Amino acid sequence: MNKPLKIAIAGLGTVGGGVIKAMQAGDNALADRAGRRLEIVAMCARDKNKKRGFDLKNWVGDPRALVGTDADVIVELIGGEDGPALALVQEALTAGRHVVTANKALLARHGAKLAILAEEKNLALKFEAAVAGGIPIVKALRESLITYGVVAVRGILNGTCNYILTQMEATGRPFGDVLQDAQKLGYAEADPTLDVGGGDTAHKLALLAGLAFGTAPEIDSMAVQGIAHITPEDIAFAREFGYRIKLLGIAKKTPYGIDQRVQPAMVSAGTPLADVNGAFNAVMADADAAGSFFFEGRGAGDAPTASAVIADIVDIARGNIGPVFGIPARSLISLTPTPSGSASSAFYLRFQVLDVPGVLAEIAGHLAEWRVSIESMIQRGRAPGEAVSIVMITHETTHASVGNALKTIAASDKVIAPPCMIPMEAR
Ligand code: HSE
Repeated sequence: MNKPLKIAIAGLGTVGGGVIKAMQAGDNALADRAGRRLEIVAMCARDKNKKRGFDLKNWVGDPRALVGTDADVIVELIGGEDGPALALVQEALTAGRHVVTANKALLARHGAKLAILAEEKNLALKFEAAVAGGIPIVKALRESLITYGVVAVRGILNGTCNYILTQMEATGRPFGDVLQDAQKLGYAEADPTLDVGGGDTAHKLALLAGLAFGTAPEIDSMAVQGIAHITPEDIAFAREFGYRIKLLGIAKKTPYGIDQRVQPAMVSAGTPLADVNGAFNAVMADADAAGSFFFEGRGAGDAPTASAVIADIVDIARGNIGPVFGIPARSLISLTPTPSGSASSAFYLRFQVLDVPGVLAEIAGHLAEWRVSIESMIQRGRAPGEAVSIVMITHETTHASVGNALKTIAASDKVIAPPCMIPMEAR
């Protein structure tokens, strides 16, 4: 057998711990797959005294000291888009070490330049675990769905949001209550902003778009919306119209550029994405003439994420280095975003209004001014002079037209809360 592949790991939280336990448990089987033994020669984390359920062998004092060991591969599981994670990855590549990371924030921001650094030295920079945990979507986009090219990806990429939306639907409880429960159960972080605000999905989507379209990952131009404004009422109305609400990351090729968005969307009940429940993740990739492919699985947790990290390590052990984003990093093109507001779809609109004469005519009038056509409508209950909800589904139109109409409608003294607008996807 070839000489062992030496591995150093920075960060021993859920994922790092999972990697070490899985490598110990799968030792011989992994060596057979890799064609050589995988040997952990160094590890480090912030707190040496924390109980972790495995021996802390070959401990070093700080992440950068890992580069001073004889490791062939540095596994970066620290997290964060800058700081120690960026310093470690840069130094590891500069020192001629392969890198495996689960760090989506780092790669969404610095992926193109780190890829250039890796490829100049013929090194691997692998990141299967950064997107959708155990789902092998990075490999699928980088190596498998390449003949016809991918024209669109749509994904449920954040398990916390999908868990919250699923629970809201099952219990009829509001976002804030369900989030609190999710935090108590350990499904949501103490600071949930990155998850529920859509930022985590945006990082993952930027990587999927880079792999799919040969573009440098780009998040600054991405429209990003989270789920905090979704109400149980919206979820109930969605069900009535035959839809479920999912937080989607969407990246599509259009004649005007790449449309990349993170937003809650109405997905037709019974379609594969609509049926993804709880903390699961899923990606639908439209590979043009090859057709659509649907991937579903666990997007977080120690074993699924460790499974992705170790798959990358085994790839390196076999000598499968390859370009980081599937084409040479110097050939990645800058992403041209579609003009703001130009994306089109049908929309779900909910207005909280006073039940007074003329309110419906006023709303319909402003929609007509922006050429937004109504497909169907529900007004639930009747409470003269009091608040009621009016819900409409529009025909296809642009985000800009709906946005402009809603700005005018929101200013009406008969409209008592900001209108809710949710695009319809995957109808
Ligand atoms: N916090 C993420 C989620 C997992 O809830 O899906 C890591 O990106």
